[in-house]
Amino acid sequence: MNGSPEALPDPREVVERKRDRGQLTREEMRSFILGYARGDIPDYLAAAFLTACYLNGLSIEETTELTQAMVDSGRTIALLDVDRPKVDKHSTGGVSDSVTLVFVPLAASLGLAVAKLSGRGLGHTGGTLDKLESIPGLRTDLSVDEFEAQVARIGCVVAGQTEDLVPADGAMYALRDATGTVASIPLIAASVMSKKLAVNSDLILLDVKAGSGAFMKTPESAAELARTCVLLAAGAGRRARVAVTDMTRPLGTAIGNALDVAEAVRILRGEERGRLRDLSVRFAGVAVSSLLGGSQAEAEQRAEAALDGGAALDTFALMVETQGGDHRVAEDPAGVLPRAPHRVDMALDRTGFVVEIDAEALGRAAAQLGAGRVRKGDPVDPAVGIEFTATVGDHVEAGQPVGTIHSRTPEDAARAEAVVRGAVTVGDEAADPPPMVFGWYDSDDVEEAGG
Ligand code: URA
Repeated sequence: MNGSPEALPDPREVVERKRDRGQLTREEMRSFILGYARGDIPDYLAAAFLTACYLNGLSIEETTELTQAMVDSGRTIALLDVDRPKVDKHSTGGVSDSVTLVFVPLAASLGLAVAKLSGRGLGHTGGTLDKLESIPGLRTDLSVDEFEAQVARIGCVVAGQTEDLVPADGAMYALRDATGTVASIPLIAASVMSKKLAVNSDLILLDVKAGSGAFMKTPESAAELARTCVLLAAGAGRRARVAVTDMTRPLGTAIGNALDVAEAVRILRGEERGRLRDLSVRFAGVAVSSLLGGSQAEAEQRAEAALDGGAALDTFALMVETQGGDHRVAEDPAGVLPRAPHRVDMALDRTGFVVEIDAEALGRAAAQLGAGRVRKGDPVDPAVGIEFTATVGDHVEAGQPVGTIHSRTPEDAARAEAVVRGAVTVGDEAADPPPMVFGWYDSDDVEEAGG
């Protein structure tokens, strides 16, 4: 080719091959993903590519190449100056799922380092970055240097992908949200694992959600996503422990960005019990026992004590302050966080037991209020959302308040209230809620199996 650069695969042909159920080569995958991350490939072509992947799936080899190309679209973070054992944690996304907001300071208060790249709200699910940014002044667009320095100094950091960090995921995540291509096992696995592999941790903890409020609607499909993530970790020589957890109903009581932060603060202050606290403690226990030794039960006891004794809250306040946020949120969330102009208490029309809550409907109602985005790049309203305090198994009385809608207008509140009422099934018999954790998957088992 006489000194001219080697011809790159034509991106249109890459899309066509995937559309026709072909298998992409390493070179095709890399050139498409890196080209998109550089801005050389337009959104419309990337949207067609994502749709083809969504419809036709990707083999584990293609998923591995996709993940690695996403990692290679930016810098990686070695965390050489961090002397504590390093854990990273990620959820595939749920409704009222603020485990990260609790887990990160909790694990750091127990002697671990947590350096976490998070995402924004996708579809009906909330995003840690959107939640954290509801704290006035808090920055999540840290440079790699800032990210590394913060975790070395205080033991924890939560930031977003930037031009430096997994930029391909940043761009594709937003495009998937806007094109209905989120709920794909290989695309979710690559998105999650690219962010985890870009940061050099000793343990990757993943929370793969299953149920109406998750992208994976059944424990079986969530288990497939969990196994894919474990294979990607093992293939990259990294340790991962992955839980499939219940998302058949909201995990906590708050759905909305500032509302989620306020709930996390109540848990960090030891004021609120429930499944959000229990799951945060379970993950902290797994991280501590895996990296510092001791039993799971002992590690969970330490985590409970850090929540009840204030150590986790102090670490949260320090993290918020270090990222430029108003640390008084840890003392007085209501005084610091934005509040929606309209707050309307809501009740159900029937007396009986809550047997089912359509978590996705609640997530969509919160997104409609402005807590999520309809189009790529839309701003979110940090103040709006839904608080819903009843959960499956609870007995409720008709007319008794079970939640509050936080909205910009009374009309928005009325619309959301109608959706929430339609999303909750009340029956005569108490239903047994599903377990909090359906199962665990471990990269060590892949290696042992020679997979
Ligand atoms: N979380 C991510 O980071 N990526 C996804 O695709 C879904 C959830």
